[in-house]
Amino acid sequence: MAVLVTGGAGYIGSHTSIELLEAGHEVIIVDNLCNSDKIVLERIKELSGKSPKFYEIDITDKEKMEVVFKENKINSIIHFAALKAVGESVAMPVEYYSNNLISTLVLFELMKKYNVKNFVFSSSATVYGDPEKLPILEDSSLSVTNPYGRTKLMIEDMLRDIYYADNSLNIAILRYFNPIGAHKSGIIGEEPNGIPNNIMPYITKVAVGQLPHLNVFGDDYNTVDGTGVRDYIHVLDLAHGHVKALEKLSENPGIVTYNLGTGRGYSVLELVKAFSKASGKEIPYKITDRRPGDIASCYSDPTKAEKELGWKAKYGIDEMCEDSWRWQSQNPNGYKK
Ligand code: NAD
Ligand code: UFG
Repeated sequence: MAVLVTGGAGYIGSHTSIELLEAGHEVIIVDNLCNSDKIVLERIKELSGKSPKFYEIDITDKEKMEVVFKENKINSIIHFAALKAVGESVAMPVEYYSNNLISTLVLFELMKKYNVKNFVFSSSATVYGDPEKLPILEDSSLSVTNPYGRTKLMIEDMLRDIYYADNSLNIAILRYFNPIGAHKSGIIGEEPNGIPNNIMPYITKVAVGQLPHLNVFGDDYNTVDGTGVRDYIHVLDLAHGHVKALEKLSENPGIVTYNLGTGRGYSVLELVKAFSKASGKEIPYKITDRRPGDIASCYSDPTKAEKELGWKAKYGIDEMCEDSWRWQSQNPNGYKK
């Protein structure tokens, strides 16, 4: 029985596919490569010693997706595929709603038709909006402020409705905090298009000399040093969390929701310091205005995942920085030669 991994050529999907193959799962990747490179598939094979089956398909194309369900015995779906840039979603809401929602609806329809019962969804800490209480528990109130976040919350709501109508399903909603880091080999990692929006790829591009300095978005928040605090989590820990989530679904838990974070927040300046220590590179920075829509602090209470999944993040900030740096320094132009 196979696991269908949508968006498996992307940053989190590629790391998870390796983890799944190593755990003995059969993996089928569907990706339209709109934000990834085919070379990732060769590297997944190189690292795991196994070849996932690959379909280059846009998931919004139901006819083509149906072929994947016909040709394979799919037991579970891990749904990573989505557009994910917050700022871009504000400028291009139609593309975000269309891509993220239609692709998910196509999967729901085919799941029903082909009797697939297990579904893992990539949600995000963004669904907690500006949290009322820290650390954030899974039952905190939910609110979103941009179209990207709204697609995540809408899909979570759809999943709750779908489960209500069909209790035979098993659904894991995983809310990721801030993924950084890369595979220990340094041959797969995160490759954002253009100038990075997220902090770690921005820092690594400064470190390799492709960007002059980091802009620190505000130093007047009510935090340890005034800069924004986030719960950074190693992508390898996240990947492992998906294997644990699949194990959980095999126990027929119904619909379950977990924070995947470390439970520890770091400020922007603490992250910069940890990166400099890991890489031996000074990161020049300038304090600028706050970025619209940013919040002061966001970090998880990951206790529920530990208790119910037997999952706990094992990598600390130093290893996250070392591994992000290994990937960027070995591949200054990402997957491009
Ligand atoms: P990514 O862009 O690296 O990976 C997503 C993959 O999906 C890409 O390979 C892209 O080509 C593919 N894709 C997108 N739309 C598609 C479609 N219609 N058909 C087929 N393939 C399609 O992103 P990532 O960082 O690996 O994120 C994976 C998931 O995790 C996303 O759902 C994202 O919203 C969620 N998430 C990411 C973060 C983060 O900071 N990286 C945080 C929280 C949640
Ligand atoms: N930051 C800077 N300079 C930069 C980029 C970021 O100072 O160039 C700061 C931000 O102000 C924030 C922190 O670094 O305090 C982290 O910012 P990111 O853009 O890396 O991450 P966010 O927490 O804003 O959001 C990310 C993803 C969202 C996701 C969320 C929670 O972009 O999609 O994590 O998982 F929802």
